[in-house]
Amino acid sequence: MHSNPNPCYLETIMHDSEHLPYDGLPQLAEEEMLARAQAFHELVRLRRTVRNFSDRPVPAEIIAACVQAAGQAPSGANMQPWHFEVVGDPALKKEIRLAAEEEERQFYERRASEEWLDALEPLGTDASKPFLEIAPWLIVIFEQRYGIDQDGSKKRYYYTKESVGLAAGFLIAALHNAGLASLTHTPSPMAFLNKILDRPANEKPFLLLVTGYPADGALVPDITRKSPEQYIRFREMSRDK
Ligand SMILES: Cc1cc2nc3c(=O)[nH]c(=O)nc-3n(C[C@H](O)[C@H](O)[C@H](O)COP(=O)(O)O)c2cc1C
Repeated sequence: MHSNPNPCYLETIMHDSEHLPYDGLPQLAEEEMLARAQAFHELVRLRRTVRNFSDRPVPAEIIAACVQAAGQAPSGANMQPWHFEVVGDPALKKEIRLAAEEEERQFYERRASEEWLDALEPLGTDASKPFLEIAPWLIVIFEQRYGIDQDGSKKRYYYTKESVGLAAGFLIAALHNAGLASLTHTPSPMAFLNKILDRPANEKPFLLLVTGYPADGALVPDITRKSPEQYIRFREMSRDK
């Protein structure tokens, strides 16, 4: 990044051939802005992690549009350090299920601490993961820890976890917006996904996102979210001296 000696930053960028004017935001009256902000809040308020999926098919175009929405997330130094492997092939889903259940068995029987198992208890999860075969799509998100230049040398990437986390958030919101349920699944460790999906060593599985329609009568844990006072503090006025 070059330094900017001009006090009028806007003037500088207007005259810089590497920058474009930005007109991507809708021009809205404040009432409309508030209505849209509230509608979005209401939309995401109703998102839940679902663990019982229907095998009802979902067209690939819908998934593709959601994954492309994820690809619009911001990323450290614009490295876009992500890869999405979108799996609908029943044979691959089965392989993933078998490998994930093997890791999960070891997790529940040996690796998990008592404290962790206690935290998972209200969710009712265990080592059995039938949804990995039943749901129509598994979206495996890979974090690219570094890039590979054309000459094969390593290219440094920045804030890869934060960037991929943001892309995953965009994806979960996009799927929900499209009327699809999702499950953020993290069998640990997930290296088996590199092997099954034939992904290179610079990529680390980040999340396995299961998506599709909920099964008829699917239940979700009766859990609560924090109230806004618990996680937001507004600082509008400068502090009185
Ligand atoms: C990083 C991350 C990892 C998660 N891993 C799992 C998982 O392996 N298995 C599972 O059933 N749920 C998993 N979840 C889902 C959480 O349990 C769920 O988001 C949480 O209980 C809140 O429920 P809600 O999503 O319905 O609001 C994960 C969520 C996140 C964000």
